Amino acid sequence: MKVRKAGVSDALGIAKVHVDTWRSAYKGIISDKFLQSLNYIGRENRCKERLKNQEEKHFFYVAEDELRGIIGFAVGGLEQFEPNIEDPITSKYEGELLAIYVLEEYQRKGIGAQLVQKVIKNLLEHAINSMLVWVLKESNYRVFYEKLGGKYLTENY
Ligand SMILES: CC(C)(COP(=O)(O)OP(=O)(O)OC[C@H]1O[C@@H](n2cnc3c(N)ncnc32)[C@H](O)[C@@H]1OP(=O)(O)O)[C@@H](O)C(=O)NCCC(=O)NCCS
Repeated sequence: MKVRKAGVSDALGIAKVHVDTWRSAYKGIISDKFLQSLNYIGRENRCKERLKNQEEKHFFYVAEDELRGIIGFAVGGLEQFEPNIEDPITSKYEGELLAIYVLEEYQRKGIGAQLVQKVIKNLLEHAINSMLVWVLKESNYRVFYEKLGGKYLTENY
């Protein structure tokens, strides 16, 4: 398994991880109807656009298994929450972990932690030394961030 920067040709692999992981991780939290409406091609197209427009402050990493292909990905960048609103808590944070997903069967093997390290390293290289992440309140995966040193800041909605 290796973790590397992603390119446009990774769009379908990323889309599959996104859709499959949403379906396994958010079952019972997000409606089945919505989860079933997700599809690889729709996601691939959105993802392609975002991959094309990657820049130093908005970037993707993938975790790739030799046999299985892409098994996880993470997106990092500038903090994006309500850009026009000066939220007193979130606006103190410059960077954001915008997404991170690892296929269910590859979870708890240290891949997520490696992806987060890559995102942090990239942000630090651009002198961005704070980062937040939004997590669904109901998700058990919150523990992952706490384990990596994340601290609860606020909640919304
Ligand atoms: C959250 C996620 C990215 C973590 O990736 P991962 O590869 O499973 O995480 P790691 O193996 O690097 O975990 C590092 C540590 O975090 C903690 N941790 C991770 N997942 C956990 C879980 N489900 N429950 C409890 N602790 C967990 C553990 O302490 C783990 O170390 P350990 O296995 O040695 O005990 C992945 O599980 C995932 O895609 N989850 C579903 C989607 C999701 O919630 N994404 C985040 C959206 S905000």
